[in-house]
Amino acid sequence: MCRPEHFTVSYTINPWMEPAKPTDTAKAVAQWQALYDTYVELGHEVELIDPAEGLPDMVYTANGGFVIDGVAYAPKFRFAERAGEERHFIDWFRAAGFDTIVPEEVNEGEGDFLLAGDVILAGTGFRSTGDSHREVGEVFGREVVSLTLTDPRFYHLDTAISVLDPVVGAAKGGPDAANIAYLPGAFNEASQQILAERFPDAIRVSDADGAVFGLNSASDGYNVFISPRATGFEAQLRERGYNPVLIDLSELLLGGGGIKCCTLELRAKQASS
Ligand code: ARG
Repeated sequence: MCRPEHFTVSYTINPWMEPAKPTDTAKAVAQWQALYDTYVELGHEVELIDPAEGLPDMVYTANGGFVIDGVAYAPKFRFAERAGEERHFIDWFRAAGFDTIVPEEVNEGEGDFLLAGDVILAGTGFRSTGDSHREVGEVFGREVVSLTLTDPRFYHLDTAISVLDPVVGAAKGGPDAANIAYLPGAFNEASQQILAERFPDAIRVSDADGAVFGLNSASDGYNVFISPRATGFEAQLRERGYNPVLIDLSELLLGGGGIKCCTLELRAKQASS
């Protein structure tokens, strides 16, 4: 995670960002701190990267890479406004001992790549390119399922899909065992079909819950950290036996980000068996 000490909205690269609207950096920090504290209270280990001046979007660390088994695939941002973040994340991964892969293709890390069981769900349409889907598959040697986003409000895959069971490997009974929640209307017809076939038990979230960034959530398989405004999704999660944990990041939503955007999962190297 990255404390939003320099958070503001000074440019527009997604429809949520309106530079004319005032932002409150202290409020952003306080809301972010509540998320951080809740993760720690619930037993999660959180690493921090230093915020850099002039990079107000660095708080959205999900875009800082995609990490599986101790290997970090670094980002290459679509827009020049965020390109300055790349070297900070690369330096951080290297210093922390991750095997760091510098990409050829435009990709925005875990914003567009989600590990669901053994497969990588990969988004395109607004940010990460189709070529990055091939590259991420080569880097990790895993199957990649390409999905096309069509609604500019949901410009990253992590705004339209939430992986509910973040299990690495076949621990829960084989490939695709991880269930997801998703917003069907964020995808084109072909991608909706793929999702329906692959995840017949998925939670389909309403447009109303999607529109308040309900799907931009993090899960440890039991606790699902979601926006308090996603009340329908909250009820759906309870029905399935998950524990919704409500965290309000309204200030960070002014930059077009939520809980998941502020969280990059660091999957350490698996002990070889
Ligand atoms: N302002 C940032 C951008 O448009 C928000 C990024 C949100 N991150 C995410 N993982 N969806 O790039």
